[in-house]
Amino acid sequence: MAQENSPIQHELRFAERTQFQAGIAAFDFSGRALKHSDVIAFNYGLPDGDLFQLPELKAATALALSGDGARSLQYGGGSGTSRLPAYIAADRSRRWNTTVEPDEVLITSGSSQAIDLAGRLFLDPTDEVWFEAPSYFGAIHVLSLYGRQRRGFGMDAQGLVVDEVAEELERRAKTGAPLPKLFYVIPNYQNPTGLTMSLERRRTLAELAMRYGFYIIEDDAYGELGFDGVALPPIRSFAPEHTLYVTTFSKTVAPGLRVGAVIAPKTIIRGMQRVKSEGGTSPFVQETLANLLESIDFQAHLAHLRQTYRDRRDAMTETLAKVMPSGCEWTTPLGGFFVWVTLPEHTDIHRVWEHALEERVSFVGGPPFYVDEAGKNQMRLSFSYFKPDIIREGVLRLSRAVEKSMSPALTPTAPSAGR
Ligand SMILES: Cc1ncc(COP(=O)(O)O)c(C=O)c1O
Repeated sequence: MAQENSPIQHELRFAERTQFQAGIAAFDFSGRALKHSDVIAFNYGLPDGDLFQLPELKAATALALSGDGARSLQYGGGSGTSRLPAYIAADRSRRWNTTVEPDEVLITSGSSQAIDLAGRLFLDPTDEVWFEAPSYFGAIHVLSLYGRQRRGFGMDAQGLVVDEVAEELERRAKTGAPLPKLFYVIPNYQNPTGLTMSLERRRTLAELAMRYGFYIIEDDAYGELGFDGVALPPIRSFAPEHTLYVTTFSKTVAPGLRVGAVIAPKTIIRGMQRVKSEGGTSPFVQETLANLLESIDFQAHLAHLRQTYRDRRDAMTETLAKVMPSGCEWTTPLGGFFVWVTLPEHTDIHRVWEHALEERVSFVGGPPFYVDEAGKNQMRLSFSYFKPDIIREGVLRLSRAVEKSMSPALTPTAPSAGR
């Protein structure tokens, strides 16, 4: 039989998870979702297309093509490839009250590629990579392609429980057991829980990275979408030499641009450039995005997004409070796209899923967010895509599905559908 962490076991588990997600992904997420499908899909963290700045993007694209436009369509062409890192460096220097230099910034094809490059550069198959439990399944998947030993550490209202991490590191250092190479965390409005890591824990995790020599991937996909306007300092500010800070324009401009970035020490940036084999993130798209950012009031745009997503978060959490059966708990995120729901312990998320489909609502069940078998009574709901009225209706439908799955009279078959 395959061992628990053998490559075969790993592949099997991944196949199982993708199959589970594939069922979920079968819905239409285009702007036409509601016309063609009556399913209210709370599953993927899609920004609302109505919030894309189409006229401004059109103008920025036209500008990229005008004049000496052929340059931006050339290999490595145009000035966007230098203007965009300069913009990000200046923006973070201002926000973090420090100096980030443009050559500490690498533009990537979405933040997904930044995570992938970190895995390529740092991990050998026997290396360990650690995560919050739960964590973003895309990162779990891509980092697991490189380092096959994974481990998750619990979270509470303050985010990652760093004391558990410290204990495990100390135990390993004492016994000579392997230490992790990378620790992937999402400190702001985490995917999937919506939780935020406290300042103290950020500092502690940074200290642990410096003491035990591992690197932190600080994924800040949602950091600009905090509802109360308060931004905690990034983990990077406590350990710049041990942090790969990852950001993206997917949630704030549009995911179809596929532009993200990593801020890291120059030696790491050079290493990532060496393993970045596609010949560079599209110069044309970088030109367009640089034009856009230089021509709009981006802070005002972010303020609009925050207010819009805040109203949607309210619609979701207020309705959950009104209609969910007792014994269910959920987070109230201070930013980002997601609410994390924990159902009573015996609830089987696959049964909830069956009833949810009958009710025409969907979600992502907990298991794909863990590196082990946890999460069977949990689900992630995204409030980013739909307007408040639809969110309220979706949560009502979901509550009916949960009630049905908890009621033995309505589900006379086996207590668990299994997988
Ligand atoms: C935490 C987190 N990181 C990264 C990504 C990937 O984003 P990108 O479009 O920048 O590749 C997502 C997308 O859902 C995410 O939630």
